[in-house]
Amino acid sequence: MSTHAKVKRITVPEIRARKGAQPVVSLTSYHAHTARYIDPYVDLILVGDSLGMVMYGMETTLGVTLDMMIAHGSAVVRGTERALVVVDMPFGTYEESPEVAFRNAVRIIKETGCTAVKMEGGARLAETIRYVVDRGIPVMAHIGLTPQSIQVMGGFKAQGRVKEDWAAIEEDARAVAEAGAFSVVVEGVAEPLAERITKQIPIPTVGIGASPACDGQILVLEDMLGLSPKPPKFVKEYATMGAAIAGAAEAYAEDVRARAFPGPEHTYKMKKVDGEA
Ligand code: KIV
Repeated sequence: MSTHAKVKRITVPEIRARKGAQPVVSLTSYHAHTARYIDPYVDLILVGDSLGMVMYGMETTLGVTLDMMIAHGSAVVRGTERALVVVDMPFGTYEESPEVAFRNAVRIIKETGCTAVKMEGGARLAETIRYVVDRGIPVMAHIGLTPQSIQVMGGFKAQGRVKEDWAAIEEDARAVAEAGAFSVVVEGVAEPLAERITKQIPIPTVGIGASPACDGQILVLEDMLGLSPKPPKFVKEYATMGAAIAGAAEAYAEDVRARAFPGPEHTYKMKKVDGEA
């Protein structure tokens, strides 16, 4: 019998119960090693479709496929034991109908072992969220700046900076909460609106570029590690890993050129065989 105490994974009701109590600490991750490092410190890990831009160098998230999300989602689940893992549904896999959304969400849940899925959209998605949640799959919603709608929005633009836009975004927040989403990402939204939404709905708002008024925060891991060439204005860099990687590569290159690496401690010696001198 194993002597290791198994760590219990944070559940959807536990995240839901954070409303008004304790901030929901969230980060994205796309692969097992980084997920393993952040797992002890965060409540929720999102395998975001931002991986298309961060990992694959795409211009937008629109080219991300279900198979990509499943491959990265499985890796993150394998690398973690504590945080609740949510996998993004990519563009084109849930908008057509509640049935299509459910079928693709089932694939994500079965093939990755994650706990929940995330979908971008507000009121227009309420019926789909209800359908998927009623059939046993927890849904995190995503409102405000929704990168999968970039072509309609005309760019990555902060939302709700004029009061005329507030009603529609507030309606989105109410609709996804009523439909049964257990929490909602609020992205790129002006502070007073984020505050109003957070007060109006009974589920935790997890903000990204949406002020401290939200019930929790999420950042793209590579942005906060200092690995992104042009991080958005709302990112705080907690490390300078881009510079650390460049420095390490430079030092390695110098060592190899000077034949200083590998040293004796990195080199296999012959085994002593009986009878050999
Ligand atoms: O895809 C993603 O990483 C996201 C976060 C920015 C919330 O949706």
